Amino acid sequence: MRVAMIGAGYVGLVSGACFADFGHVVCCVDKDAARIAALERGETPIYEPGLDELLARNVREGRLSFRCDAAEAIASADAVFIAVGTPSRRGDGHADLSYVHAAAEEIAQLMDGFTVVVTKSTVPVGTGDEIEQIIRARRVDADFAVVSNPEFLREGAAINDFKRPDRVVVGTDDERARDVMRELYRPLFLNETPLLFVSRRTSELIKYAANAFLAMKITFINEVADLCEAVGADVQQVARGIGLDNRIGPKFLHPGPGYGGSCFPKDALALARTATEAGAPIRLVETTIEVNDARKRSMAARIAAAAGGLQGKTVAILGLTFKPNTDDMRDAPSLEVAPRLMAMGARVQAFDPQGMGEARPLLEGVEFRAGPYEAVEDADVLVILTEWDQFRALDLDRVKLLMRRAVVVDLRNIYRPEEMRARGFDYASVGRA
Ligand SMILES: NC(=O)c1ccc[n+]([C@@H]2O[C@H](COP(=O)([O-])OP(=O)(O)OC[C@H]3O[C@@H](n4cnc5c(N)ncnc54)[C@H](O)[C@@H]3O)[C@@H](O)[C@H]2O)c1
Repeated sequence: MRVAMIGAGYVGLVSGACFADFGHVVCCVDKDAARIAALERGETPIYEPGLDELLARNVREGRLSFRCDAAEAIASADAVFIAVGTPSRRGDGHADLSYVHAAAEEIAQLMDGFTVVVTKSTVPVGTGDEIEQIIRARRVDADFAVVSNPEFLREGAAINDFKRPDRVVVGTDDERARDVMRELYRPLFLNETPLLFVSRRTSELIKYAANAFLAMKITFINEVADLCEAVGADVQQVARGIGLDNRIGPKFLHPGPGYGGSCFPKDALALARTATEAGAPIRLVETTIEVNDARKRSMAARIAAAAGGLQGKTVAILGLTFKPNTDDMRDAPSLEVAPRLMAMGARVQAFDPQGMGEARPLLEGVEFRAGPYEAVEDADVLVILTEWDQFRALDLDRVKLLMRRAVVVDLRNIYRPEEMRARGFDYASVGRA
């Protein structure tokens, strides 16, 4: 199959590279000329484990290319994927569909012969209908089908998630489009990955319902963590105790500073909007959003309490990205926490293994350090904000020697309270005595 991937971001690049690895011929198109130039030089514009090698191999073997100009890629494609961003629209929380609409316009002008237009971007229910109308309005005679195929990959584990997904969801009623989608995902089909064929609207909603549910699960355990602190229970043990129940499951039961990232915040908001406008509000999701926003805002006060006030103090932050193994800073808790710490009178010195390039322009006033030990130098309190593996095995004696005061606020529970206290740290974590 010949595939054009419109948008070479976290989703487009990974999906494009994986489809090429399945044996298809893929052209990734992006209007960001610097990004395409970097890709053509063999550089990977985002940090995603394993992506460098996957891109290089598929380029070398002639199945993967990159372009700014979509014309040839779209004209020759059996399937054109839309993998552009759908950020929150300023003001009302709706998904901003301007990039999706622009992509649809472009596809309409350039497609040739029967073309399956596949929406991989996360889009509100009914967007597939809009894309169809946009294309039809420009090309009355065009032979095409618009399919919804939401992406469930997680940054940091994206390649494995794409190649070994729990399921693939395909929303279409068009039999020819189904055949193309079956062919595209054939290697997974052979692996017995469930391929779920549903209606387009159902498929669009599945993606939002999945993300909102996961956001709700995280928020639930965060509130249970607060309760644990109030009543003297241990949230790790509560999470394990409930997670072993198959009906609940152990994942997404890790308490922390509140969820962030490029998906959960905007998708929960967009779902709440859609539901309200449809006259079927989802109050649980509305509350999840409120509780999570409040939680992110409250973390600075938690750190101040542990440090005995922040005026004139130095705070070391380890981890700035919204989760480990990515350089993505979108809606990361650090963007809420660090400015608040500085507003409360603290100096902030931070380190992140991959995110500092992205973080620098977003976190004015923060001093960026070359490594974890440089970050903790002369600090009054150390905050662990993202659970990168390299922070799990710090030389704690060295950390203690470098710090002015041995105070640690571990917002990801990566250390054990007894152990930290035995080493002489004043240690606070989430939901544990
Ligand atoms: N990031 C994730 O983990 C993830 C997971 C699942 C789904 N999604 C969804 O996938 C979509 C893409 O997310 P992302 O994180 O990859 O976004 P991104 O911002 O990393 O990438 C989007 C890319 O599209 C390009 N682009 C925009 N309009 C274009 C056009 N008309 N022609 C060519 N290129 C264009 C941009 O330059 C950018 O490089 C979103 O809807 C998102 O919600 C993201």
